[in-house]
Amino acid sequence: MQTLEIRPVTAADAGRLVELHARCSEEARYLRFHAAKPRLRAVEAEYLAAVDGRGRVALAATVVEDGEERIVADARFDLLGDGDAEAALLIRDDMTGQGLGRLLLGRLLELAAGLGVRRVVLDILPENRAMLALARRVGAEPAGFDGRSVLYAVDIPR
Ligand SMILES: CC(C)(COP(=O)(O)OP(=O)(O)OC[C@H]1O[C@@H](n2cnc3c(N)ncnc32)[C@H](O)[C@@H]1OP(=O)(O)O)[C@@H](O)C(=O)NCCC(=O)NCCS
Repeated sequence: MQTLEIRPVTAADAGRLVELHARCSEEARYLRFHAAKPRLRAVEAEYLAAVDGRGRVALAATVVEDGEERIVADARFDLLGDGDAEAALLIRDDMTGQGLGRLLLGRLLELAAGLGVRRVVLDILPENRAMLALARRVGAEPAGFDGRSVLYAVDIPR
């Protein structure tokens, strides 16, 4: 049985984020980035890994495979101002459907509450049934439609 660890993303994770991206399906990458994205460039990975725990928060779920620590899920939010934060998740295909998304989004909501965030927003493509189910599962409500994606928002209790 694999042991899963959940920990903050650090600057040393850029390479692991590139690998996570490469090991996800084309569909998962599209649903995450709302665009075809065959590769995560080093500069993009460095940006995603450079979180400060205040304005940008990210959690990694990791396992050890072949003696190497690998990131199997990335869950994050960026503060947008006005008390809003936007969250996004990417879970490696072989790790989906086991409650990891729900666990990570729950942790993000707790971290957001601790930072005084009032609303966590999720920008979801309408065909993304899994993410829509997950958003509803954590109590998110529809908050808008931009012509392409649906916004869901979770109000964080004060
Ligand atoms: C969307 C995603 C984060 C969900 O993560 P996950 O670990 O598979 O989700 P969970 O196992 O925690 O399931 C959460 C809910 O979604 C439901 N769900 C999961 N996959 C589903 C699917 N393919 N269709 C419909 N519902 C689904 C589960 O039944 C569960 O609902 P329940 O609690 O009412 O039973 C993951 O599939 C993923 O990374 N997808 C690709 C990237 C992406 O879409 N990111 C979101 C951008 S905002």
